[in-house]
Parts: sequence; C-alpha cells; structure tokens
Amino acid sequence: MTTVLLTGATGFIGGAVLAHGLSHDLDWHWICLVRGKGEEQARARLAENLGRFLGVDAARKAIRRVEIVVGDITDPASLEDGRLDAVTHILHLAADTSFRAQELCHLINVEGTRALALRARRMPHLQRFLYGGTAMICGGNPPPVVTESDAPAEAAQHLVPYTRTKVAAEAMLRHEFADLPVVMVRPSIVTGHRTLGCIPSSSIFWMFRAGDRLRLVTGELAGGIDVVPVDWTAEVLVGLLAKPTLAHDVYHLSAGEAKRTTWDSLAVAFERCDPQGGPRCYSRFDDGDWKTLRARFQAVFGLDQPIKLAMLRAMRAYYQFSTLGVVFANERLTAEGFSLPPTLSDYLPACLSAPANLSILDQFADDLGMFDEAPAVQELSVQPASVAA
Ligand SMILES: NC(=O)c1ccc[n+]([C@@H]2O[C@H](COP(=O)([O-])OP(=O)(O)OC[C@H]3O[C@@H](n4cnc5c(N)ncnc54)[C@H](OP(=O)(O)O)[C@@H]3O)[C@@H](O)[C@H]2O)c1
Repeated sequence: MTTVLLTGATGFIGGAVLAHGLSHDLDWHWICLVRGKGEEQARARLAENLGRFLGVDAARKAIRRVEIVVGDITDPASLEDGRLDAVTHILHLAADTSFRAQELCHLINVEGTRALALRARRMPHLQRFLYGGTAMICGGNPPPVVTESDAPAEAAQHLVPYTRTKVAAEAMLRHEFADLPVVMVRPSIVTGHRTLGCIPSSSIFWMFRAGDRLRLVTGELAGGIDVVPVDWTAEVLVGLLAKPTLAHDVYHLSAGEAKRTTWDSLAVAFERCDPQGGPRCYSRFDDGDWKTLRARFQAVFGLDQPIKLAMLRAMRAYYQFSTLGVVFANERLTAEGFSLPPTLSDYLPACLSAPANLSILDQFADDLGMFDEAPAVQELSVQPASVAA
C-alpha cells in the first residue's frame, strides 16, 4: 500500500496534488499534515481548498478518504503521531512562501523541514521523500539556461529571503540527511490551471494581467518567462511519487526553452482574449527603473488606496524575477517520460475567463499576504527608488 504524507495540502500546489491524487490514484492512502485548532477545523480548511479544484460536493466526498494529522512542521511533537509510521512516500510542499518575514521563513522552511526529515528517519517503510524546492534558488545572476546541477550556487545573491531559505533547506537535507531517499523537485513559476483558470488561485496571474495593462516588460522584449500551470505541476509531482525508480535526485518542473512563454506570444494571446483592451505593443523598461514603473502604474491604476501601493511593491518584486529572463532546463523530466507543459499563452483564455469578472486588484488579494510587510529585500547592486515616497 502506498501511503503518502502530503504537507502543504491547504496551499496552491498541495491542493492541486491532492485533487489530482484523489481523482486518479484510488489505491493510495493520503495523510495530510494540516494546521488547525483540531481535526474538525483542519478538515474544514482542507475541504475548502480542495473544493476550489474539485467543486464543493466532490471535495466533501473525496476528503473522506484523507487521513488528517493536525500538526505544524515547526512543532516536532505534532509529528510524533503514530500514523506517520506507515508512510511510504513524503511530498513536502509546506513552506512560508512570503517575500518578507525572514525569521519565520527560516523557521518554517529550514527548521520545519529538518523536523520532518528527523521524523522521516523513523518511518520504516519510507521509499521516497520528495522535497518541494524552487527553481528560483538560482539567485539573482543566473546563466540564461539553468540546469539542475547549476543550482544552488554557493555565492548566489538572492532577490528575496524566501529563496535563500530554500537553498538552505536543500543544503541541509543533502548534508545532514544523505541516508534518506530525498529527491528535490524545483518548480519554476506556477500560475493558473489549464482548465480551471484562476478558480483555485490567482497567485502570480494578476501580475501578468497587470503587466499587460501597463504594456511593460523587463528584460529582453524578444525574451519571455518560464512559467507552468498548477495542474501540470501536480500531475508531474504525483508521477514522480509513483515512479519506482528515478535517474536523478533533483528535477526542475519547468517550461524550459521549448515551452517558455514569450512576451510576443503573450501579447497576441491577450489581444485575442481581450480585443476591447486594444492592440498590444509591450515596451521594455530596465531593471531598477522603478520611476517608469511607478509613473505608468499611477497612470493606469492610480495610487489612491493602500492596496494599490502594495500591488506596486509586489510588481516591483516580481519584475526583478522576470528581469532575469531565465529558463530552467527540463530534459531530466522529459527523459523520465513526462510531457512538457503548455505555455501561458496557450492556457491564458482559461485564466482570463474563470472566475469571471474579477478585477486585477481582486486577484492580487490572493498574494497580498506575501507583501503585507516590507517590500522585497534588495541585495542586488541596483537599488530601487522608494516607491512609498
Ligand atoms: N507557487 C509557486 O509559484 C512555486 C514555485 C516554485 C516552488 N514553489 C514551492 O512549492 C511549495 C508550495 O507552494 P505553494 O505556492 O503551494 O504555497 P502556498 O500556497 O503558500 O501554501 C503553503 C502551504 O504550506 C503550509 N504551511 C506553511 N507553514 C506551515 C507549517 N509551519 N506547518 C505546516 N504547514 C505549513 C500552508 O498551510 P496553511 O494553510 O496552514 O498556511 C500551506 O498549505 C513551496 O515549498 C514553494 O516553495 C512554489
């Protein structure tokens, strides 16, 4: 019996994994570690998230097949639950993904992962421990095409503390837990769903819409961005759990050179989906030219509400990532037999139509929690002008 311990199931990718797993692999036993004030609350939280993928009724039914361990990876006592002794596979996706809170990020992403790995040592049937990292551990100065063995660079500078904690967690697993069957999975940017669009979450997608409204891209106009849909990501994660053997211990879950989304194709796709928005002709602004961004933002959205200021800060942080123009090699994944994801331009119609009538600001609310304190830490040589001024 395959018994999967899934952490992060109330999140975006974890929810997609559970939805996919429950819909496709009826023989697997799923145990979800969920934060909550008791099992009832934890189950309700999980059901609510699963409902975004399966619909409310199907989620309520499906969740009966899920065992819930109420716990927190930063609380080792909660990991002592004896049901975890039966675990054969771990998919560890729980993380603090915010671009602020350095200490909390470290506590959850590094110390929480360590606590889980220590518990994993006492899981006698454990066959695989998939650790959910991020391709963005490549840091702020990557080569144009990053391979799994390029990252993490020891001396890499980081755009946000979050990616630094993900590097530290990988290094910790590698050095302290070489005895565990750890496989690192590093998704690139995950946004939208091929059929449900933004119903499960608008995370990051609002940024593409806002960039389209501003008609601005950073980096090369002829370039693009490595981005993948959440349901493809979930399918691959479940597939990586299921494969009896894997050739490598690190995989990018990425679009790669073949399926990166080019700005040109995205402009055409936006124009097709939203002809009333007029013709698209994106212009480039250089990294660090935050005055241009601010001026354009003010002209298009205004800066008359705190949420708009937060959105401008968030855009600035995300533009730093898109400036990198980086692509994450995915030949390891394709060699394992996984198909490539579609480009965002391919599934843009779904993202724009579902749910209907949500404004960009409404969609930004899905990511607001990531930015409600300080803006992204600046560690690159270019220091942005203060947007709050
Ligand atoms: N989304 C992306 O674009 C992307 C790209 C690359 C890599 N990743 C990685 O993929 C993983 C999942 O990302 P996501 O976007 O799905 O994140 P998310 O939506 O922010 O979800 C985070 C999940 O982690 C759980 N969690 C946080 N702290 C916890 C703790 N102390 N104990 C137990 N659970 C805890 C959250 O539970 P609560 O509901 O209780 O808060 C939630 O279920 C992360 O490791 C992230 O680094 C994401």
